[in-house]
Amino acid sequence: MVETLEPRAASAASPRGTPRPVGTARPQPLTAVANAGVARRPLPMEEFSRVLGGGVVPGSLVLVGGDPGIGKSTLLLQAAAGLASHETPVLYVTAEESAQQIKLRADRLGIDQDGLFVLSETSIDEVLGAAEALKPIAMIVDSIQTVYAEEITSAAGSVSQVRECTARLMAFAKPRDLAIFIVGHVTKEGAIAGPRVLEHMVDAVLYLEGDRYHQYRILRGVKNRFGSTDEVGVFEMAEVGMREVPNPSAAFLQERADNAAGSAVTVAMEGTRPILIEVQGLTTSSAFGNARRTANGFDLNRLQMLVAVLTKRVGISLFDQDIFVNVVGGLKLGEPAADLGIALAIASSFREARVNTEMIAVGEIGLSGELRSVSQLERRLQEAAKLGFRQALVPATLGRGLVRPPAEMTLTRVSSLADAVQAALG
Ligand code: TYD
Ligand code: MG
Repeated sequence: MVETLEPRAASAASPRGTPRPVGTARPQPLTAVANAGVARRPLPMEEFSRVLGGGVVPGSLVLVGGDPGIGKSTLLLQAAAGLASHETPVLYVTAEESAQQIKLRADRLGIDQDGLFVLSETSIDEVLGAAEALKPIAMIVDSIQTVYAEEITSAAGSVSQVRECTARLMAFAKPRDLAIFIVGHVTKEGAIAGPRVLEHMVDAVLYLEGDRYHQYRILRGVKNRFGSTDEVGVFEMAEVGMREVPNPSAAFLQERADNAAGSAVTVAMEGTRPILIEVQGLTTSSAFGNARRTANGFDLNRLQMLVAVLTKRVGISLFDQDIFVNVVGGLKLGEPAADLGIALAIASSFREARVNTEMIAVGEIGLSGELRSVSQLERRLQEAAKLGFRQALVPATLGRGLVRPPAEMTLTRVSSLADAVQAALG
């Protein structure tokens, strides 16, 4: 990492104060420690609140990372307005835009909230000074890479700057019970330090993910000292800002063509939440010796492996085919449980035979063409049943993930990809 090249400047907000005599630290029995319930300020945005564990904890530092342009400023301005609707004041510090630009965005989002203050400032001392005077209950700092501390010689955005500014915000927040959201741009390697260098310092780390050319965004918790990291929030970037998507499965299946070959539906787990996702495959004879494989939202190496298994274990000869795979909605499928859906979409396109539209498919595929069990099968099936699917193609070895399948659902249990292709495409 770049940071090893950066000399560490002496920190003004160093946690080391005046030295204490040794021997004053006293351990206490764990049973005697008071059970401090965590107070939280709820956000009116349920999807955001859930990822935080039910609201933001006063005095905590929350890092919100994501690619430039993904919607961080939009989401946090909406969150700031939401917080201010409960309790004021809330301070939105922008070190990237002018107050007028924030006003324009607020107008676009229909935000006209009393008690929401904006400060356009890049000096961390000025920011803290203003916060000291205003005494907000929550503060947004957008972004950590554009604020700077005077004493540090390196440019704003360097590792030492972002660390120092974060340390100061932390030291400021704790004693004042002030909740601070820090925006961090994910960066390609370079002079600007990404949010990763801050992950260990803050209380919670959320990433806003998605494809900026698609409307859906997922807010994912990757660290949370006050809650679980299993939660995701789903949003849709609309003309009027980030809109919550309380039923993502229905949203992702909205535009599915009923009768097209090359499409399959799988159920992915996003944290503890099952989400139905359409996956598409397209095969075409390749014009040159070199067949292309392209994956959108799916790991390319995994795709190569599935293609090899389809060729060798199922007898679908794909060596001279260009193969394209697309996960609808701009989502990313990282789970092996998605293998079966992807493989079926490819087989379906190649054979020009459509997958039963009432069927979902989940299963991990091994190199021998065997189908392996997946986690949390029951939850996946329940979600599929809720959306009207009546059949599920699942691994013969159900694993421990299934206790009782939904009554209205017929399970087709298969032990190999070859059997699965047979069952789905006939
Ligand atoms: P922004 O929140 O500025 O992203 P970030 O802070 O992560 O860099 O939003 C970026 C994009 O979102 C921008 O290209 C325009 C689009 N957008 C909308 O589609 N709808 C909206 O209501 C707003 C405010 C922005
Ligand atoms: Mg921004």
